[in-house]
Amino acid sequence: MFSVDKLNSIVTPYYYYDTQLLRKTLEVIKQECEKHENFHVHYAVKANANPKILRIISQYGFGADCVSGGEIKAAIETGFPADKVVYAGVGKSDWEINLGLEKGIACFNVESIAELEVIEELAVAANKTANVAFRINPNIGAHTHANITTGLAENKFGIAMQDMENVIERATTMNNINVVGLHFHIGSQILDMGDFKALCNRINELQVQLDKHHIYVQSINVGGGLGVNYDSPDHQPIPDFKEYFHTYAKHLRLREGQQLHFELGRSVVAQCGSLISRVLYVKQGSHKQFAILDAGMTDLIRPALYQALHKIQNLTSNEPTEVYDVVGPICESSDVFAKAIDLNKCHRGDLIAIRSAGAYGEIMASAYNCRQLPKGYITEDL
Ligand code: LLP
Repeated sequence: MFSVDKLNSIVTPYYYYDTQLLRKTLEVIKQECEKHENFHVHYAVKANANPKILRIISQYGFGADCVSGGEIKAAIETGFPADKVVYAGVGKSDWEINLGLEKGIACFNVESIAELEVIEELAVAANKTANVAFRINPNIGAHTHANITTGLAENKFGIAMQDMENVIERATTMNNINVVGLHFHIGSQILDMGDFKALCNRINELQVQLDKHHIYVQSINVGGGLGVNYDSPDHQPIPDFKEYFHTYAKHLRLREGQQLHFELGRSVVAQCGSLISRVLYVKQGSHKQFAILDAGMTDLIRPALYQALHKIQNLTSNEPTEVYDVVGPICESSDVFAKAIDLNKCHRGDLIAIRSAGAYGEIMASAYNCRQLPKGYITEDL
């Protein structure tokens, strides 16, 4: 997968994206999704908003799932049609709502009554109609890290289930609001299809409740969340989209003509990206041996923030492995990529790949310690 000569020619640290793998992944998604009538995929821009990556994804005809005005702009500028943009988030500012109205986005995923009232007010002022879906908090726990589960009653996201009919009925009295659907998202990095099945069951119950009130919605959006194999990216570079879509096809009882929308982020881009860095120093501590890299938590925060484990490879050396704590240069004890892992013996200057970093990597980088943001290169740049 890596051409070390080419990777060597760039100043580290940086993100490298294998666009051949990205395109293959997108083809599989398209193919598996199209097997089901009325299934629609939106790419969750928050996972990776590198313009080169967005441009490639938009060519496959997917919509975009955005969470800010900045993401709406980034999506439209890179070729996603405005009428396939959905916009979620608990705290939408007035300018962001106005931008969505002006661009004519497909749908605002509304997270509170207070927000609905502001959207109505701004839509009246702009003489536009806002399509809205209500994000319902389904109170379903996902088997994933606590920081990335979103669908529990204790989380800040969505409208409580018991308020669903009230909100919909309220919205139907508003002249500039058009209710199109319901929206859900239970969390991220989910590998247990049972979690998605639980969501389907919950939506089925809610739809029965809506039937009783003679309410029909045209679309159901189940969010994203499909996980990837961080342990063996080479073994499973493309997640099992077939099983994922099949789970929804099997367990969700859609009404006649109802559309089903997905917001896939991580599963689209995680495996095609690696953070490439170099060993600055090998240091023998009193208890451990450290490989100190020129990349740190500012470039990839997932290990520090979620104790995420990314596979790490020495691309330069094939000497017998030794045990290292792999750390960065940032002045924080949490600036650790992995503890006590086996790596081919490291030397100053060796090129190191931190794998499966295409999602929530480059986009979450910060300038802490006055560091430069990492650049992103795609295969074609090399
Ligand atoms: N839709 C909504 C409403 C979301 O909140 C998210 C992710 C997605 C879709 C996309 O989910 P995905 O398919 O990527 O799982 N920074 C964390 C992940 C945060 C996910 C936030 N929401 C990480 O690095 O693990």
